Amino acid sequence: MAAAAPPPPPTEPSTKMPETALPRHPVFTRIRLGTPSDVPYIHKLMYQMAVFERLTHQFSATESSYSSTLFTPTNQPFQSITIFILEVSPNPFTDTHFDNNPFYKPSTKVVNLDLPIDDPEKELFRTQHGNEVFVAGFVLFFPNYSTFLGKHGFYVEDLFVRECYRRKGFGRMLLTAVAKQAVKMGYGRVEWTVLDWNLNAINFYEDMGANVLQDWRLCRLTGDNLESYGATD
Ligand SMILES: CC(C)(COP(=O)(O)OP(=O)(O)OC[C@H]1O[C@@H](n2cnc3c(N)ncnc32)[C@H](O)[C@@H]1OP(=O)(O)O)[C@@H](O)C(=O)NCCC(=O)NCCS
Repeated sequence: MAAAAPPPPPTEPSTKMPETALPRHPVFTRIRLGTPSDVPYIHKLMYQMAVFERLTHQFSATESSYSSTLFTPTNQPFQSITIFILEVSPNPFTDTHFDNNPFYKPSTKVVNLDLPIDDPEKELFRTQHGNEVFVAGFVLFFPNYSTFLGKHGFYVEDLFVRECYRRKGFGRMLLTAVAKQAVKMGYGRVEWTVLDWNLNAINFYEDMGANVLQDWRLCRLTGDNLESYGATD
């Protein structure tokens, strides 16, 4: 009978990384409360929103009108106009000055992408909050009230993610942060409006479980009509 073949020599552990462990492109994200120093970013983001919505002819806000209305001493976060800023960085966040905010502890997350993000506007949106930290989007909301529920809610006025950062889960992160805060405060709902041609946003909202109500119309009294109606006895 032939002798059994000797067992193969032990193999050295492979130094080749398995496909799934190949280095990816981590993006460190942080959602924090907006501050007065964010006004220039908010203004640029809102102008981009107006361009996206083809409504620049209606856009008259300035940095100074934002400064005097968004961050007044009486505007307490969540009781009035509230802004969450989404920052992104290829590096972990090192600054800590938002961490002790009494109203909101920033929420951070690392997202691993297959491809790096090429941000053509990075210099416009670079912040002073550490090494390579950029503003990527924001959400602005304020409390409203439902007499049917007998509860407060949040109305989201604007949600915007800069174009090169879309489809990476960041819009969802911003809206989730608002929903989490609503739940935490015992609020009954979060609602907003969407233009009927904005199918991307409608898909995004339906995908997250929101109902897009077909039978409600937005009414708006503004400009001269507001002035003259307000002047009647
Ligand atoms: C709408 C907006 C905020 C979504 O942000 P985003 O970061 O691109 O969205 P997310 O990556 O978080 O999308 C989450 C999920 O929503 C759905 N979704 C998002 N964009 C979508 C699109 N264009 N088409 C279909 N589904 C979409 C997908 O299911 C997506 O998950 P997936 O990418 O794993 O498939 C962003 O596209 C934006 O700022 N658009 C311009 C401004 C705007 O329309 N604001 C809303 C006004 S009401």
